[in-house]
Amino acid sequence: MKVIIRDHAEDASLWVAHRIAEAIKAKAAVTSEPFVLGLCTGSTPIRTYAELARMVKAGELSFRNVISFNMDEYVGLPVEHPESYHSFMHKYLFDLIDEPAENIHILDGNAPDLDAECAKYEEAIAATGGIDLFFGGIGEDGHIAFNEPFSSLQSRTRVVSLTEDTIRVNSRFFDNDPNLVPKQALSVGVATVLGSKEVVILALGPKKARAVAAAIEGPMTHYNTVSSLQNHPDGVLVLDDPAATELRVSSYRYFREVYK
Ligand code: PGA
Repeated sequence: MKVIIRDHAEDASLWVAHRIAEAIKAKAAVTSEPFVLGLCTGSTPIRTYAELARMVKAGELSFRNVISFNMDEYVGLPVEHPESYHSFMHKYLFDLIDEPAENIHILDGNAPDLDAECAKYEEAIAATGGIDLFFGGIGEDGHIAFNEPFSSLQSRTRVVSLTEDTIRVNSRFFDNDPNLVPKQALSVGVATVLGSKEVVILALGPKKARAVAAAIEGPMTHYNTVSSLQNHPDGVLVLDDPAATELRVSSYRYFREVYK
């Protein structure tokens, strides 16, 4: 996997925005087929989304021929709840860009039949011909989407239970009360993400440093599902310097030298 290290969160976030823009434009230059983009939520993508929105506003980029699939959504949280991932995505991206509403896909955590909802999601992804680029974050426990430790690396979209750690970390969005955090979510699987042609993972800040080092230098393991990126032909981890602090000095130097 490639590891891009930038001094600051700002540079790392812009690197990702520009990579996404470049990929959308590159496909548009050779085909009228839509670009299929996987998207994430959380604190991490906010600056990247702001840059994408700026580019659209400036007329430098368009999402008119983009189809997107979000990674995950809480189970049982009303769509209009400010912390639902539906609300997040509209606030930080969809309301600011020109992606047609019918191209936006986010799992429905209130669907009457959650298993059927997940199966339908996989079918919808497959019907597009597959995801061109999946943009994700990493949890402090090394999760990708809500694929918590011990998720199968062959997993597909399904109902998942959040770990105590993730509930604690996410309680910052719920008045710091873990009891208010939904205990379950719908999440694309590890294999769903790895089935994308390109995977770009952004990790910012020192709290991600341990999981990042394990994903890069450790074995590929279900204990850290981002480590599965080691088995992807076109995976890139984009870090700010604080997120790179637990890497060995030799790894750090190598990545800094090779991916300037
Ligand atoms: P964060 O979440 O961006 O809010 O840190 C990332 C994740 O849990 O995958």
